Amino acid sequence: AEILVLNGPNLNLLGVREPEHYGSTTLEIINQRLAKQAEAAGHRASFYQSNAEHELVGRVQQAMQDKVAFVLLNPAAFTHTSVALRDALAATHIPFIEVHLSNVHAREAFRKHSYFSDLAVGVISGLGAQGYELALAAAIERLKK
Ligand code: DQA
Repeated sequence: AEILVLNGPNLNLLGVREPEHYGSTTLEIINQRLAKQAEAAGHRASFYQSNAEHELVGRVQQAMQDKVAFVLLNPAAFTHTSVALRDALAATHIPFIEVHLSNVHAREAFRKHSYFSDLAVGVISGLGAQGYELALAAAIERLKK
């Protein structure tokens, strides 16, 4: 099945962006690992990152048409702001896991609220790049059922 890995604004800067919060691994390296992990389990991972809200909304709508089975989503700053991206995920009914590299609960108060967590299958926050791999492992388990 297809598993879409969707990353929001500024995550294209991973590796150079505030490494004390987000680590030193680039998005390209994270995605390479996820591609291998998905393939080893007999699935196909697809990847999309955008800094633009409407592009992320469009990609989620496309995922519905493509019959994507699962989404790993790091909405980045849109976590805390985007009703539009939330509504897109709600519309698709595609199960998703919300991933954050940093522990959003250990930072500024405005990061504690997410527009996605109540819709998500689960949330991983604070485990760095490994969080994506753990989320993918969980997604793969669920796709067996
Ligand atoms: C983030 C946390 C968000 O608060 C922040 O705006 C990001 C990245 C994370 O992965 O830790 O851009 O989603």
